[in-house]
Amino acid sequence: MKANLVLLPGDGIGPEIVAVAVEILSFVAQRGAHQLKMNSQLFGGSAIDAYGDPLPQETLDACLAADAVLLGAVGGPKWDHGGPRPEAGLLGLRKQMQLFANLRPIQPHPDLISASPLRPERLQDVDFVVVRELTGGIYFGKPKGRKQVDGLETAFDTMVYNTAEVERVTRVAFELARTRKGKLTSVDKSNVLESSRLWRETVNRVAQDYQDVILEHLLVDAAAMHLITRPASFDVIVTSNLFGDILTDEASVITGSIGNLPSASIGNEKNALGFPSGLYEPIHGSAPDIAGKGIANPVGTLLSAASLLRFSLGLEKEAQWIEKAVDLTLKAGHRTADIVAEGKFPLTTIQFKEKLQEQLSQLSD
Ligand code: IPM
Ligand code: MG
Repeated sequence: MKANLVLLPGDGIGPEIVAVAVEILSFVAQRGAHQLKMNSQLFGGSAIDAYGDPLPQETLDACLAADAVLLGAVGGPKWDHGGPRPEAGLLGLRKQMQLFANLRPIQPHPDLISASPLRPERLQDVDFVVVRELTGGIYFGKPKGRKQVDGLETAFDTMVYNTAEVERVTRVAFELARTRKGKLTSVDKSNVLESSRLWRETVNRVAQDYQDVILEHLLVDAAAMHLITRPASFDVIVTSNLFGDILTDEASVITGSIGNLPSASIGNEKNALGFPSGLYEPIHGSAPDIAGKGIANPVGTLLSAASLLRFSLGLEKEAQWIEKAVDLTLKAGHRTADIVAEGKFPLTTIQFKEKLQEQLSQLSD
């Protein structure tokens, strides 16, 4: 198989962790006798520095033409002082690639349970996926801006959804629930927001087509609480762009470290191979405080690369090789600084990668 990937290393620790993923992807591609062409493009803050634009046309064109895109992270304090923002590049890319569904699986690794802030008994059987709407809602709604109102500087955003936007992401979530434990939780704020009332109505309508899936509705404030008090009760959660952003940061720390978690963003577009086009990125950000120190945890990016192989290239076996190697490396006790146990010695990013390569080369098919 031949595939074209675009790499967007981005800012902060992004380049360090994407470099690890590239080596591992090359290794599994070679072992599976596939040809992966990987082409790096400037994105986010680094593209602002070079071109004054976080999503230069060349980067966008390359991403639209690629079979899949792997992203490190964007942003950092350097671009916080007015001018274009790196994050705008990410929002623009999601919109242009029409990636309306963002899948964020939350599954603590059994050997990292002690790194979680929750009591171990609460983590038994925690395994759920948040499907976050990614190209609508308050992130993109118009009007958005600032003006003088009654002599006061005033800013406003608009939370807006139409039925088609809610329906397509809801269908992704129902389909996913069908392949899992058969339960879907829709999260909204329908006791206050009009857009949430339309959300709930639409989810209920779509549910008619999925009577085999158990549907529950939660208000977002209650959902934030239930994620802590009963995380094991969730299977698939579907929610709007803003609520999904907030709840997935909360959900991620349940697993011990945000550094471990992958995400996949997909839509209805297909790539040249006939699989869904997608953007794959770890959930964590650019971590400017540790950038350049060589200590970042590459696990979230590696698992994102595995999802890329599975969903956008149809390479299930190769995806499992990476997942298995990550699992075995963690089981063997190797840890980067963010997840190391007290008094234990952390590995650098490169050392962790080397341990992972050892596991990978010992794997049988
Ligand atoms: C995320 C991030 C982004 C978002 C930022 C970087 C724009 O927090 O992917 O969760 O808010 O969507
Ligand atoms: Mg976020």
